[in-house]
Amino acid sequence: MHLTREEERIYDGERGWANQTCIRILVRLGELFGAEKLIPIDSAHVSGVSYKTLGGAPIEFLRTLADAGAMVKVRTTLNPQSLDSHYLREKLQENLQKPQLDILRQFERMGLTQSLTCTPYYLHRTARDSHHAWAESSAVVYANSILGAWTNREGGPSALAAAIIGKTPNYGIHRAENRRPNVTVRVETKLRNETELGALGIFLGKTLGDKIPAIKGLPNTSKDDVKQLCAAIATTGMTNMFQLGSSTRTRENQKIGVDSDQIKQTIEELSIASTTKPDLVFLGCPHSSLSEMKRIAQLVEGKKVRAGTEFWVCTSCHIRRTAAAYAKKIEKTGGHVLDGVCTVVSWTEKLGIKTIMTNSAKTAYYAPTLNKAEALLAPLEDCLKAAFQG
Ligand code: F3S
Repeated sequence: MHLTREEERIYDGERGWANQTCIRILVRLGELFGAEKLIPIDSAHVSGVSYKTLGGAPIEFLRTLADAGAMVKVRTTLNPQSLDSHYLREKLQENLQKPQLDILRQFERMGLTQSLTCTPYYLHRTARDSHHAWAESSAVVYANSILGAWTNREGGPSALAAAIIGKTPNYGIHRAENRRPNVTVRVETKLRNETELGALGIFLGKTLGDKIPAIKGLPNTSKDDVKQLCAAIATTGMTNMFQLGSSTRTRENQKIGVDSDQIKQTIEELSIASTTKPDLVFLGCPHSSLSEMKRIAQLVEGKKVRAGTEFWVCTSCHIRRTAAAYAKKIEKTGGHVLDGVCTVVSWTEKLGIKTIMTNSAKTAYYAPTLNKAEALLAPLEDCLKAAFQG
């Protein structure tokens, strides 16, 4: 890889241990994947924030980096943690909270904003054709496919290293020639809601591996709904972007058709709970947008959450603040708007939750392993019917 004189100085340790460690991570990655050089990035998004999924071992590495003076050079956001700022903090034991707060503290020392969301694109605009180093797979697919930004799917450490150096190696999807679709997907059925879009994503992720599909047959899909496709396709596969639209040309001739039976079967495979009565109804994977908060608030206004059922809507602290009036309406029903956290990266099993109902195919996919819970997957309206009386 070609390094500039300044990058060589960093590599040789002249700018301190923290910078040297970070640039060495990036150069190693670049060499592995055939990058020619490092390129500047506009932003980074770091995953591996939840103590539940991260565990305790990496905390010392974060502390050592912060002690050595590591500081991010670009705007850097953080993925959700394992607690929200109110509800779960009261319910979960102290020994789970302390390490989580320690992780956040180390990130804060390095200049990362306490954004705590998997939808950083609701906080800051990303320019078309700008380069980034993001580590949340659902956001990576959304950024590349919907926003026209350019980012590989980073791991937590490489996103943090890129944030501290302000650069990333120019391999993979940072190169124009790697962004052209190489398979055509024709959706041969009308997808009626966000859950069916999520099911399409789960199916395509398994089928396509890391191919870039040109997806045809999804006219007039809203950005809120397409977010489910982005999250799900990255859950089961390594696809980092797709293109929507009937006129997209592909560089290979492979074609795949998806019909209503495949969508139905995918939903049935994810919806495996032995009961129709969930302990928790969860919306907000990926984190809810302002318009989703508004819609949920309108649909639940004046209702009451069923006794024995939890109703959670997850979003970022930023959207929660912006949507304060909607959050208030949702909480008036007995539900909870949880900011900075989500079900999958929190400790639901410690709250006795054994069945989770959700409109998110990604959450339904992970619930059995990460939450030790059975999942029910259904669109928003059906989730609300299960959560509310009458
Ligand atoms: Fe976000 Fe959690 Fe889903 S991090 S994409 S809400 S699993």
